[in-house]
Amino acid sequence: MPESLNVLIDFLRQQNARQVVVLADANVQALYPHYLSPLASFFDCHTMVVPAGEDSKTLGQAEKIWHELLDKQYDKNVVVINFGGGMVCDLGGFVAATYKRGVRCVNIPTTLLAMIDAAIGGKTAVNVEHVKNAVGLIRQPDFVVPADLSFLQTLSTDELQSGFGEMIKYAVLFSAPLFEELEEMDVLRPERIRSEWVRKCVGFKESLVAIDPNDLRERHLLNFGHTYGHAWESLCAAQGNPVPHGVAVAIGMLYESRRLSRNGIMSHETCEKIECLIRWHFDVPEWDEQIVSLLQSYLVQDKKNQAGEVGFVEIAGIGNFRTFASS
Ligand SMILES: NC(=O)c1ccc[n+]([C@@H]2O[C@H](COP(=O)([O-])OP(=O)(O)OC[C@H]3O[C@@H](n4cnc5c(N)ncnc54)[C@H](O)[C@@H]3O)[C@@H](O)[C@H]2O)c1
Repeated sequence: MPESLNVLIDFLRQQNARQVVVLADANVQALYPHYLSPLASFFDCHTMVVPAGEDSKTLGQAEKIWHELLDKQYDKNVVVINFGGGMVCDLGGFVAATYKRGVRCVNIPTTLLAMIDAAIGGKTAVNVEHVKNAVGLIRQPDFVVPADLSFLQTLSTDELQSGFGEMIKYAVLFSAPLFEELEEMDVLRPERIRSEWVRKCVGFKESLVAIDPNDLRERHLLNFGHTYGHAWESLCAAQGNPVPHGVAVAIGMLYESRRLSRNGIMSHETCEKIECLIRWHFDVPEWDEQIVSLLQSYLVQDKKNQAGEVGFVEIAGIGNFRTFASS
């Protein structure tokens, strides 16, 4: 049995859990059908499979799950276990936060992005029409199972890159030594992702969440790369050519670093280092004037804007963030 499952079983037993409901991403359930089987020896365990992909992050899907929980007469003591990437953590977190005004919730992240980001911090949401995360709430999971890196072996290259984009972000914000280690990696492969890198990133996010659980100030730092990144993600999706979130963030970081360098906040050398690492692992599109003007319509809708000004995270050097600023 994987060590992370032992840890989960210990947690559930300490919590006196009796009934657990696993919300499993369909791809993950197909790849790892027996991963959670040991739970059945200890708990009354039921699995619901959620179709994979962002299209499942809807109120309709949440409602289906609420109905099934009611049909099976689960009470407030049930524990919801989300088994998958960020999609299932966001959806399942939302269902758990709202069912009977809130039941306990555990995340078992299976993508790199979920391990270092989406499974931590309590942001839950569903999309409404084309608006991402339009409805949701912040409610901390009761437990996040420590990352089991063996899941990365089956991730697609795109999804691995997506998590790696977020990993670069943490390094730029918080740790020059981590940045240097990432620079030394020649090819991005699952087995090259070190567990201590994942633990560091989890630690960075957890400490910001502890200071600012409701995402009012300090957590905004985690938006580095997201101002341009979200705009790029939205534009690509609108053009029928979606890019994974963390890939868009990587592209966003590159262009935000150039902007910081132009404004004299970041040195030219630092900007070059960031650009070089991102170019090594990602195909970076050149944004011509036409693209920049298309991006502008998304930038003006960005949630980080204040009083009509587009908001950017300011970073002076690697591991040396300054502020979250509008400009
Ligand atoms: N709550 C937060 O703080 C937060 C932060 C970042 C992103 N998000 C959300 O997370 C979602 C993106 O998360 P994601 O990138 O993990 O996407 P995802 O959950 O959609 O997973 C991506 C793909 O990988 C598959 N998959 C998952 N684990 C796998 C594995 N081990 N092997 C093979 N395939 C696997 C999934 O079936 C899916 O097809 C978005 O909805 C985003 O809004 C939330």
